Amino acid sequence: MATSEPQPKLSFQQAAIVSGLVSERDYEKVAQTSNSNDPNVISAALVKNGMITEYQAHQLSVGHTKFTLGGYLITDGIGQGGMGHVFKGVHRVMGRECAVKVLPLDKSTADSRASFMHEIRLQAGLDNPYLVRAFDAGQDGNVHYLVTEFVPGQDLRRLIRNNGPLSMNDAAAIVSQAARGLQYAHDLGMVHRDVKPGNILVTPDGHAKVSDIGLATWSMSPENDPRAGKIVGTADYLSPEQIQTPKAVGPLSDIYSLGCTLYYAVTGKVPFPGGDSKSKCRRHCEQTPWHPRKFAPELSEEFVDVIADMMEKDPSRRIQTGKEVAERLEPWANSPAEIIDVPIDRKAWTPPPPPKEPSQIRETPELPELAHSGHGSGNPLSQERHSDSLSAMPPLPDDWAMIKSPQSNVILPIAIALAIAVPISLLVGAIAGFLIGR
Ligand SMILES: Nc1ncnc2c1ncn2[C@@H]1O[C@H](COP(=O)(O)OP(=O)(O)OP(=O)(O)O)[C@@H](O)[C@H]1O
Ligand SMILES: [Mg+2]
Repeated sequence: MATSEPQPKLSFQQAAIVSGLVSERDYEKVAQTSNSNDPNVISAALVKNGMITEYQAHQLSVGHTKFTLGGYLITDGIGQGGMGHVFKGVHRVMGRECAVKVLPLDKSTADSRASFMHEIRLQAGLDNPYLVRAFDAGQDGNVHYLVTEFVPGQDLRRLIRNNGPLSMNDAAAIVSQAARGLQYAHDLGMVHRDVKPGNILVTPDGHAKVSDIGLATWSMSPENDPRAGKIVGTADYLSPEQIQTPKAVGPLSDIYSLGCTLYYAVTGKVPFPGGDSKSKCRRHCEQTPWHPRKFAPELSEEFVDVIADMMEKDPSRRIQTGKEVAERLEPWANSPAEIIDVPIDRKAWTPPPPPKEPSQIRETPELPELAHSGHGSGNPLSQERHSDSLSAMPPLPDDWAMIKSPQSNVILPIAIALAIAVPISLLVGAIAGFLIGR
């Protein structure tokens, strides 16, 4: 964690004792039982005995000694987002495990701090299984922090980066839970404003919770006005109205962002890849994304329709509530997928360019967001949290209409001619034609 580096650097033993994690007596006991003075050996023994965590051991080895924020003991580093670090912690008295998010409030004005504290109080009043619960907020020196429930697993962005795009069923299950959480917040007059895959946490058993509700008030401050192209985080999920009138966004803006999230979940691609934030913002307002079936041909047209209806640029034509999103996704969220193969004729999507050669059907390198090939090998939701690994983009599945072997077009008429000329060959020719033409 971010603490001032002691000068000169403390030894492992000194740091362990100064931190208060290990008493001098316990340290000596462990050294004795390990029969070693080697800090690495003692460190491993302390971890093995459950006296310190691996994270703490590493931090102590580099001389860090502060492992508390207010009443919380920091036990692990979870990750880093646009605003700061997130740690795993435990309340020193209550023993409750939690996530502690350090907020960059030190550079804030009194006004923005006050509005943030107001949001936190609202957040603390939210109690819904699909929203990450806020427990506490505080200040330790000049470090401001927010304490929430700890959600095991990984966020949706990492899940997809590590395992590839989700099936319709998994995506629908996750997004409909997020939609229900948002509906609850909307009913209480709150708007999330930063719905994105990174803010949907997914447990190994597939339970989804929306995180960071209310925090966007901070990250979307005037100096990060999307219209000026200055955005903390990502512009990939901003609604057109959030770009055009950032101060006047309502629940429908969250529905749009959740639609972009669903698009990402099933394709592994953001709707408007490439370009800078300004260009993404322009495209959110003016352009239609690639048809999702360009990247995930197995998507049914009905499913694609739900994404399109969530991503309608005109808020009045969009799916109007989180509840409705959940209802529209119910067929996939609650039952096995049924692949309905109907032609694409919807105007909501930019059609892919006509493929010419089979090689040109392959993915174009400028289309970004990373995805793994992994549809379906094992349960992606059962993966434990682990660091981002950027995998190769999957090739587009072959377009059967384009690359069916030309041979079959020649052999089929020959087989039919034979069948006409030689009666006995009628059956054989038809069978051959049938087999080759399949
Ligand atoms: N309550 C929580 N429980 C478990 N892990 C969490 C929790 N909150 C955040 N995380 C994890 O911490 C990491 C950083 O989260 P954070 O919210 O700071 O970043 P982000 O959502 O990617 O970006 P942003 O700062 O824009 O919200 C993410 O990988 C997320 O999975
Ligand atoms: Mg977040």
